[in-house]
Amino acid sequence: MTQTTQVAIVTGAARGIGLATAQLFQSHGYRVALVDRDESEVVKAAAGIENSIAIACDISSPADVSHMIETVMNSFGRIDALVNNAGVAEFKPLEETDFDCWRKIMSTNLDGVFLCTQAAIPALKESRGAVVNIGSISAVRASTLRVAYGTSKAAVVHLTKQLAVELGDYGIRVNCVSPGPVKTQLAAAVHSPEIITAYYNGIPLNRSATVGDIAETVYFLCSEKAGYVTGQMIAVDGGFDAAGVGLPALRAKRGQ
Ligand SMILES: NC(=O)c1ccc[n+]([C@@H]2O[C@H](COP(=O)([O-])OP(=O)(O)OC[C@H]3O[C@@H](n4cnc5c(N)ncnc54)[C@H](O)[C@@H]3O)[C@@H](O)[C@H]2O)c1
Repeated sequence: MTQTTQVAIVTGAARGIGLATAQLFQSHGYRVALVDRDESEVVKAAAGIENSIAIACDISSPADVSHMIETVMNSFGRIDALVNNAGVAEFKPLEETDFDCWRKIMSTNLDGVFLCTQAAIPALKESRGAVVNIGSISAVRASTLRVAYGTSKAAVVHLTKQLAVELGDYGIRVNCVSPGPVKTQLAAAVHSPEIITAYYNGIPLNRSATVGDIAETVYFLCSEKAGYVTGQMIAVDGGFDAAGVGLPALRAKRGQ
């Protein structure tokens, strides 16, 4: 294995969207650093992926993040793609969202993206690499119970633009992928059957995303094929953001 083989870091890679993304990059020949705060699960996940390493790291901790980047550089010597995927969700009404809950969500979903990107800049400058942040459709469409989650993800969309503007001079591209509902442990914890039915009613493609749907878009944005794309958000949401009122009524009329 030479030092010219490309390297991707994927945070939150022990399971779900992050694990699928790590597997996809590996299948395209990348060496991959799987980063997660769940040490035993990330070690298991990396054991199933060739040319990968597992790094236990809480992305909301500046010390953990600088150690994580150091470990990647010591192991692989370069960074070409950084996928800021790790995220947490807690859905509560505004009046029950205490400051600890607010901070817990902001510290991973927003602070983590800032810390990981900032720490990776020297290596990304060398490779003229790419960053993809995982937002959410909750960043652009407000809904009940997600005052902290939705706000954290809206901030990630704006942070993406800030980073793209500042890092463009170095040839570093920064984009954001905002998934609609994806069947993962995170979604299972916050989406009741009623929310899932309501979601499907509002989604033109009438289904959840697969983890592969998200991973493929992330991979595209990190690839040369997206070489002139930066500062953008792509919603991978089955058309949810595009739809206004009326879709359930149209479906009922068609007898679907
Ligand atoms: N599943 C969905 O419906 C959905 C929709 C929109 C956006 N997203 C976003 O996609 C991303 C991945 O979600 P998922 O559904 O795969 O979730 P998941 O809960 O299945 O996986 C998230 C992983 O991130 C890790 N993690 C959480 N906080 C961390 C921290 N501080 N440091 C390091 N690792 C941490 C967890 O241990 C876990 O392994 C998240 O940013 C989430 O907000 C998910």
